[in-house]
Amino acid sequence: MITTSGLTKVYQSRGREVTALDGVDLHVREGEVFGVLGQSGAGKSSLIRCVNLLERPTTGIVTVDGVDLTALAGRGRRAGKELRRARSRIGMVFQHFNLLSSRTVQDNVELPLEILGVSGRERRTRALELLDLVGLADKANAYPGQLSGGQKQRVGIARALAGNPKVLLSDEATSALDPETTRSILQLLRDLNQELGLTVLLITHEMDVVKTVCDSAALMKKGRVVESGTVSELLATPGSELAAELFPVSGLASGPDRTVLDVTFRGEAATQPVISQLSRTYNIDISILGAAMDTVGGRQIGRMRIELPGRYEENVVPVGFLREQGLQVDVVDDAAEVVAEAELIKDGAQ
Ligand SMILES: Nc1ncnc2c1ncn2[C@@H]1O[C@H](COP(=O)(O)OP(=O)(O)O)[C@@H](O)[C@H]1O
Ligand SMILES: [Mg+2]
Repeated sequence: MITTSGLTKVYQSRGREVTALDGVDLHVREGEVFGVLGQSGAGKSSLIRCVNLLERPTTGIVTVDGVDLTALAGRGRRAGKELRRARSRIGMVFQHFNLLSSRTVQDNVELPLEILGVSGRERRTRALELLDLVGLADKANAYPGQLSGGQKQRVGIARALAGNPKVLLSDEATSALDPETTRSILQLLRDLNQELGLTVLLITHEMDVVKTVCDSAALMKKGRVVESGTVSELLATPGSELAAELFPVSGLASGPDRTVLDVTFRGEAATQPVISQLSRTYNIDISILGAAMDTVGGRQIGRMRIELPGRYEENVVPVGFLREQGLQVDVVDDAAEVVAEAELIKDGAQ
């Protein structure tokens, strides 16, 4: 539904060149919620602004719903008619809502329809439908100043849906909101995704957001996508940074001559008592050093760091047993690595 290939964006800033995007190939499937993560300055906003050509890419191609937007962009500064039409099929939600304070809620939602030349009566009907969809039917005549942050963002979402988009882009839509409001807005995005078949590309810095609503995710660093895939695929990728952050497990080996394993459970395997089976089958004592369990897309998923007595060479058979049960097993073979990780976590907590 959204594809970027070889996307680069270089800004000219006070005579200096800043490379915000450095060859981004992204693929967002139809009907999925796709999360983009990364630290401040990684290029997330540039990416989303290039996807709807609010920002013109320096090089590369952006297609949305089969339309090559970069080809429509032309050379002039102003967007041509065809690009404007294609853009009306892409909704955008902003961190600071960007509502017009002098207009009522309803008039804010009508604004994009006015620009599209929709007649007055049709606009009103459509705006009221949209306000109903986002749970704000009773606020049509209120002004933005009379609304809470969460309500303002609902208006922002209704406005983004005005042109009947197939794609919704959201740049940190919840980062100005408290945790409870964040959850309700995310639930709304998820509902819209499911009810309207809307494809959602959202930027966030909250791992919880990814776990709650995203089907897929990508991690950006210095203008590049360094990891991407479905949440399930990421969890199955040994050494995935996103997986480690989504399901952080930590814990130190209790001494030398121990084998430390990170075990990832998905779907069926998550409900089987594999650890106790392992313990009984091989008559070994297993310590759980750390664990994180959660539900992703209605499926149970989790990670556990366990410790077995003896070095890895002595535990090849039990490790094989776990893998046969359909579990992903990463051997944390270097005790130094575990120590370093524990220290990183400690630093992060300070
Ligand atoms: N309009 C701009 N002019 C110059 N530099 C910019 C502009 N927008 C963003 N940048 C720079 O591009 C890089 C990526 O920024 P951005 O896409 O906003 O990242 P993120 O959203 O991940 O924080 C940063 O170094 C930022 O300073
Ligand atoms: Mg940003």
